[in-house]
Amino acid sequence: MRIAVIGTGYVGLVSGACFSEFGVEVVCVDKDADKIARLERGEMPIYEPGLDQLVANNVRAGRLSFSTSLKPAVEGADAVFIAVGTPSRRGDGHADLSYVFAAAEEIAHAIAGYTVIVTKSTVPVGTGRKVAEIVAKARPDLEIGRDFDVVSNPEFLREGSAIGDFMRPDRVVIGTMPEAERARSAMKELYRPLFLLETPVVITGLETSELIKYAANSFLAAKITFINEIADLCEVVGADVQEVAKGIGLDGRIGKKFLHAGPGYGGSCFPKDCLALVKTARDSGTPVSIIETVVQVNDSRKRAMAERIEAALGGSVAGKRIAVLGLTFKPNTDDMRDAPSLDIVPALVEKGATVRAFDPEGMGEAKKLLTGIEYAEDAYSALAGADALAILTEWNEFRALDWSHVARQMAGRVVVDLRNIYQPEQVAAAGFSYHSIGRAAARPAPQLKAVAGGAAA
Ligand SMILES: NC(=O)c1ccc[n+]([C@@H]2O[C@H](COP(=O)([O-])OP(=O)(O)OC[C@H]3O[C@@H](n4cnc5c(N)ncnc54)[C@H](O)[C@@H]3O)[C@@H](O)[C@H]2O)c1
Repeated sequence: MRIAVIGTGYVGLVSGACFSEFGVEVVCVDKDADKIARLERGEMPIYEPGLDQLVANNVRAGRLSFSTSLKPAVEGADAVFIAVGTPSRRGDGHADLSYVFAAAEEIAHAIAGYTVIVTKSTVPVGTGRKVAEIVAKARPDLEIGRDFDVVSNPEFLREGSAIGDFMRPDRVVIGTMPEAERARSAMKELYRPLFLLETPVVITGLETSELIKYAANSFLAAKITFINEIADLCEVVGADVQEVAKGIGLDGRIGKKFLHAGPGYGGSCFPKDCLALVKTARDSGTPVSIIETVVQVNDSRKRAMAERIEAALGGSVAGKRIAVLGLTFKPNTDDMRDAPSLDIVPALVEKGATVRAFDPEGMGEAKKLLTGIEYAEDAYSALAGADALAILTEWNEFRALDWSHVARQMAGRVVVDLRNIYQPEQVAAAGFSYHSIGRAAARPAPQLKAVAGGAAA
């Protein structure tokens, strides 16, 4: 089979590369000429583990190519995947569908022979039907069912483990109009390698499929927000949120995942998808008040994180040097969209702190978004002369810091770990005052402080 993927971002590029690995002939199209030029040179425009190798192998095998021209890619395709961005619209927070609709119109003009148009972008209920209308209006000579069909096939991959998630997903969701048997067969054929692995496939209607994606992301955002609020309660009543999470997560009905307390969810999906679901539900006259609360709690939580750092430093960060480790919204990605750091770091600067930050992959993007701070070459140089260390993202390389080296680098002895990647006693034993989420703060024992704290203890 041959497909075109419109939009070569985190989802389009990974999906295109993975489909080509399945043996499908894929052209990945993007309007961003620079992105396509880099891909043609063998450079990855995003950081995603394993992607460079997967792309290189499939380009070499002649199954994967890149282009800025949509028309030739669509003309020869059995299916066209729309994988463009659907960010929050300014003003009302609903999904901005302008990129999806523009792509649909361009696809319409390029269709030559029966084509399945697939929305892989996360799109609100009703978008698939709207895409069908756009195509029919742009090309009155085309007939739905005979010349094209529209299918919803939301993507559930996670940045940082995107290839594994695409190749071995928990499920594939395919939503079609009831009469679209031809489109369903084409989709099954494309996903045949996953059928062979006995991946659950949910074949359903267009609207249901569109809603599944929003319901899934909002549910996960609610789960994170739930444990975050329990974490705050733990701090006040002297409980340990990690143990509460373990205690509830072992219940099969609850499950262990997404029960890690932290600074609030961020990223390119949860914030915008929760907002879009809220808008869809309100517009439909059936508000999802639970998700409205999740959005509001999470927003204020991210803002409040700077105050935690302030409190750990005795009530003020003015004139203090703060080392920040981790800027991306999660590890193993360079994606900075809606990262908690974008709330926390500017608030610290505004309160008079000097921030020196390091992130293994996110600094290129961070430099565009976070100005007025210093960027370090590595984790230890970010710590030089710092009064406090704040860990914002749980990159593996921050999980095993050499605390005696940290102590030699820092001027102060305050650690604020917003990802709970250390055991409080371990950091306190090294001479630091350690503050995390949902657990009691740990202070260094005076005699240990003198030994492990070095000159500044
Ligand atoms: N990033 C994720 O982890 C993730 C996971 C699941 C679903 N999604 C959804 O997938 C969609 C894409 O997300 P993303 O993170 O890959 O976005 P992205 O911003 O990384 O990539 C979108 C790409 O589309 C291109 N584009 C826009 N309009 C175009 C057009 N008319 N023709 C050709 N190219 C065009 C842009 O230049 C950009 O490169 C969104 O709806 C998102 O919600 C994202």
